[in-house]
Amino acid sequence: MRRKWDKKEERYFGIGIYRPKTQENLGTLWRTALIYKASFIFVIEAKYNKKSSDVMKAWSKIPLFQYETMEAFLSTVPYSCKLVGIEMDKNAVPIKDYTHPDRAIYLLGSEDHGLPKELKEKCHDLVYLPGDNSLNVAVAGSISIFDRINKLGLDD
Ligand SMILES: C[S@@+](CC[C@H](N)C(=O)[O-])C[C@H]1O[C@@H](n2cnc3c(N)ncnc32)[C@H](O)[C@@H]1O
Repeated sequence: MRRKWDKKEERYFGIGIYRPKTQENLGTLWRTALIYKASFIFVIEAKYNKKSSDVMKAWSKIPLFQYETMEAFLSTVPYSCKLVGIEMDKNAVPIKDYTHPDRAIYLLGSEDHGLPKELKEKCHDLVYLPGDNSLNVAVAGSISIFDRINKLGLDD
């Protein structure tokens, strides 16, 4: 007999940064992603070198995908998965009102220039976090993950 899927089993998320400038920010985000059960993380137009400071060996537990171009990244967005841009943008909705999709890829921008227009245009949703000034990118990603698990649950 076929087992009936629980709605909660139809969820996953990944998170990544377009052109991250520092390895530390990526490492910090990776650790949050690991602890809060992301399926993968990624970088676009950047490289990551393993750090000795990564005490949790996050690289051995969830995969990091490295896309050479925006186009390469966009060509891999899975079926029935929403691309969610985390950005301070006039078209973004406040995260407190946001209903996270069951399947989502969260996309953050570079420390210097944020998300480029071409990528923002490809996002299904744009979401912003409160505050007059921009947060550190790893902090913005970690808060967004927290909001997701707070609303959808971590294990349940
Ligand atoms: C340091 S910010 C980029 C600031 C950049 N100088 C700019 O003006 O666009 C790096 C990334 O963190 C995320 N971020 C920071 N603060 C945010 C906020 N309040 N809401 C949503 N995303 C935020 C965004 O993904 C942003 O691209």
